[in-house]
Amino acid sequence: MKRLLNKVAVVTGAGRGIGKAVASHYAREGAAVVIAEIDEALGEKLAGELVRDGGKAEFVKTDLNQLSDIDALMTQVGSCFGRLDILVNNAAVTKSLDFFEVSEQDWDWIHNVNTKGLFFCMQAAARVMKEQGGGKIVNIASIAGKGYPATSNVAYAGSKGAAIAMTRIGASSLARHNINVNAICPGVTRTDLYYEVMRGRVQSTGKSEQEIIAALDASIPLRRSNEPEDIADLAVFLASDEARNVTGQSWNVDGGLMWD
Ligand SMILES: NC(=O)c1ccc[n+]([C@@H]2O[C@H](COP(=O)([O-])OP(=O)(O)OC[C@H]3O[C@@H](n4cnc5c(N)ncnc54)[C@H](O)[C@@H]3O)[C@@H](O)[C@H]2O)c1
Repeated sequence: MKRLLNKVAVVTGAGRGIGKAVASHYAREGAAVVIAEIDEALGEKLAGELVRDGGKAEFVKTDLNQLSDIDALMTQVGSCFGRLDILVNNAAVTKSLDFFEVSEQDWDWIHNVNTKGLFFCMQAAARVMKEQGGGKIVNIASIAGKGYPATSNVAYAGSKGAAIAMTRIGASSLARHNINVNAICPGVTRTDLYYEVMRGRVQSTGKSEQEIIAALDASIPLRRSNEPEDIADLAVFLASDEARNVTGQSWNVDGGLMWD
């Protein structure tokens, strides 16, 4: 039995990496998936692949920096599918920066997408879900938001701490509307973003990429960094009816790096 049959899901930043894995798992589990992505080529390509594989998918070009894009996204979801059951707030940006290097421009770039975009997507989706009688929101935060020291930079860690706090407040505010809100906190996950951050560390430390990656993997208790699918597996559960009584939680998927 497919676990998300007849559900309609929006996944932000689904063009690559973790978002792409989540969108693909959701389509396989029977959901109609809306790919809300800033990169048109990536979004179109994934929508085509999911449909070719027998799934239902739509690409909606969305820049989470623009509140008007978030409104337009929800309008388009309504006109394509008539409902919204699941939102996965996955899109985020970061780069490797030392504590003293973080500029106001970096701060705004990171927080506009990771904090402001995430909140207004949650709010817009919750408006639809409330009218419908319920829904599921999954925020992709990070163990950086719980203080993981080897994060890309302090502004990013702050944005992910905010995502965890907003997950809890969202869960308590929306529970009476039968909307569950949970976060997933990935640890080290092999995506394009991860390799971009690693290349930044090569420049700042003078070490080779292999050395940096080997040291990072060795620091993980289970000695294994995530593949995007590790996150997608939990995202399926949190969006499914099986998670009906789970809300306000922040689930680490990190091979044992953080215990909180
Ligand atoms: N990769 C990791 O190690 C790791 C660890 C912890 C948490 N995370 C979190 O997981 C999520 C996905 O990360 P990833 O590694 O797959 O990243 P990624 O950079 O590979 O993919 C992010 C996607 O978001 C899209 N995007 C960026 N800005 C956008 C915007 N303004 N509007 C719409 N889409 C936008 C990008 O085009 C891209 O397709 C993020 O929230 C990230 O913070 C990743």
